[in-house]
Amino acid sequence: MRLYAAEHMTVIRSATEEDLDRVSLIESLSFGATWTRHCLETALSNDIFLVYQQKNVIGYLIACLCEQGKRAEILRIAVHPNHRGKGIAKELLETSFRIFPEDTIEEVSLNVDSSNRSAVKLYEKLGFEIAKVNTFLGDLDFHIFYVMKLKFLERKKKEIQLCQKSCSQEADHAIH
Ligand SMILES: CC(C)(COP(=O)(O)OP(=O)(O)OC[C@H]1O[C@@H](n2cnc3c(N)ncnc32)[C@H](O)[C@@H]1OP(=O)(O)O)[C@@H](O)C(=O)NCCC(=O)NCCS
Repeated sequence: MRLYAAEHMTVIRSATEEDLDRVSLIESLSFGATWTRHCLETALSNDIFLVYQQKNVIGYLIACLCEQGKRAEILRIAVHPNHRGKGIAKELLETSFRIFPEDTIEEVSLNVDSSNRSAVKLYEKLGFEIAKVNTFLGDLDFHIFYVMKLKFLERKKKEIQLCQKSCSQEADHAIH
């Protein structure tokens, strides 16, 4: 188990087998079609699987690396309904960005139902843009899904530029 962030009563860490009951509960409260226990177990061994824990696990994120590590895909993210709107999903995504191998990843992508406004807003807030619109015919209706992408390399370069700028400003202050 790896620890990625810890502050006050909160930790963000890699998931373990013991977390799966709690993750399954959040799945069932969050999605119509939930991942099976088998899918979650497979994700434990194959994917980046983070949990956000206070007293209990209250959020999680699952992502995979594809195309020889050039692309990361967010496969699943959910927060317990009682804990939404507190920045937990944003923190989970930002933590995953720190874990992705920054020397290879060029973009981060995901699929989201266009009617899931909170998720679309979350991804836009983090810099994702709609790259493609896919329409599927369901049992009764059409479903519209967005493929959203984040230009990861560009984001990293901007972060480095900002950091260099603030470091040189601090150095100027120290000299004068
Ligand atoms: C989508 C979801 C993961 C967001 O989790 P969260 O922890 O509540 O989100 P955060 O508090 O980190 O929100 C970060 C930003 O996302 C946007 N956002 C989140 N929820 C929102 C809502 N209900 N309405 C509008 N914007 C919202 C806001 O821009 C917010 O920033 P702000 O609070 O500074 O305005 C959560 O609602 C959830 O678990 N939904 C069910 C599962 C799901 O749909 N997962 C996504 C599948 S693609």
